[in-house]
Order: sequence, then structure tokens, then C-alpha cells
Amino acid sequence: MPTVAIVSQKGGSGKTTLALHLATCAAYSGRQACIVDTDPQATAAAWGDWRGDFLPEVVTCPPVRIVSTIQRVTRAGAEFVVIDTPPLGDSSAREAVRAADLVLIPARPRAFDLHATEATAELVNFVRKPAFVVLNAVPARATRLIDETTRFVEKLGLKVCPVRFGERAAFHKSSASGEVASEAEPEGKAAGEVDALWKWTRKQLGMPAKG
Ligand SMILES: Nc1ncnc2c1ncn2[C@@H]1O[C@H](COP(=O)(O)OP(=O)(O)O)[C@@H](O)[C@H]1O
Ligand SMILES: [Mg+2]
Repeated sequence: MPTVAIVSQKGGSGKTTLALHLATCAAYSGRQACIVDTDPQATAAAWGDWRGDFLPEVVTCPPVRIVSTIQRVTRAGAEFVVIDTPPLGDSSAREAVRAADLVLIPARPRAFDLHATEATAELVNFVRKPAFVVLNAVPARATRLIDETTRFVEKLGLKVCPVRFGERAAFHKSSASGEVASEAEPEGKAAGEVDALWKWTRKQLGMPAKG
């Protein structure tokens, strides 16, 4: 089961945003996608409630149930799983990373977010899973900031995902109504960034294009 874990010790770095956008892209590409929400605050699950019957499916589970939950949704037909985790969720992060084929670590290119990636780097380096920092809410024309951040991240033994998200109102506006950016603003920049991230993720996981 192609499984992506989204982890970061920092709250507000964009974990849930990334999780629901990736899973929704997978659903639009014709795959049965499932978000496994391990955050006690259950933000992804709340978004799923607002969204109603539209895909992707969102299920909640405590960290110790991640593996069994993935097995259950797989039996029910899931073809792609994204695990959303809480900030400071040591056991969630550990179990999610263990269960994953690919780890994505959203981080705003700011000191506090980058500091938080150090703990995550230790974890993924220990478990030896492919892991990429996804730079999120990157200001426009921030080439130097991106270069500095990339150097910092690479020193930690992590890689930077070639796809970045800008600071885009479409992300928070759409989530509040149970939508994703491409539904709220189909022609917007956020939609394009998400699509690029999905295509990149799909290739990382060796999933063929559909349709
Ligand atoms: N690239 C972005 N541009 C603008 N707002 C964003 C972006 N990424 C996330 N947000 C907003 O920032 C807030 C925190 O994001 P969230 O995904 O909930 O983070 P986390 O799950 O890591 O705590 C949310 O209101 C979300 O809509
Ligand atoms: Mg969250």
C-alpha cells in the first residue's frame, strides 16, 4: 500500500493541509484514497465532516492502531494512504514513519519550523525512510531564503522536495469549507503547486499515472 507519512514537531507548519490536498489529488486521479488522522485534535477528520460524502475518506486512529487501520482500509479497497500526525506527537510520528514508504516534512522557511525539523530528521534517519522537507508558505522572490534553508536541511541529512508551496490564501479559505484549493480556485497557483506535488509523490512511490 503506497503510504505517505506527514510529520513535523511544529504546529501550523502545514501537515494537515498537505495531507488533505495530496489525498484529494489521489482521489481525483481515480484512486481510492484514505487519510489516517492520528491527531487527537482531529482536524483532518473535521474537514472530512465538512466535506460530507465527497472523497477522500478520512478515518481517525490512535498511534498504536496505525498499522491495523491501514490493513483495514486496504481490505476495504484503499489504494493510497496519507497519515496526518499531531505536532509534538512522538509516538504518532514514530509509528507513522515506520508505516510509511515516504515521509514528507512540511516546514515554513522560518527559524522555529526549521528548528523543529531537527527532531524529525533524527527519527527518519534512524528508521531510514526516504524523507523530504516540503517548503511551505514560501514568500515570493525568496531565492536566498530557499538556498539557506536548503543548506540547513541538507546538513540534517534530509532532502528538500523540488516542489514548494507559496503563501496562498486558497489553502486556508478552501479548507474552512471542506474543500481543497483546486476546488475553490481551479486556476490558482495553489492548485498548480498541489498538482505538481502529487505527480512528484506518485513517481517517488512508483505509482503509474492513471486514465
Ligand atoms: N501555503 C500556505 N499558505 C497559506 N496558508 C497556509 C499554507 N499552508 C497552511 N496554511 C494555513 O496555516 C494553518 C496551519 O496549517 P495546518 O495544515 O493546519 O498545519 P498543521 O497541521 O501542521 O498544524 C491553516 O490555517 C492552513 O490553512
Ligand atoms: Mg494538523
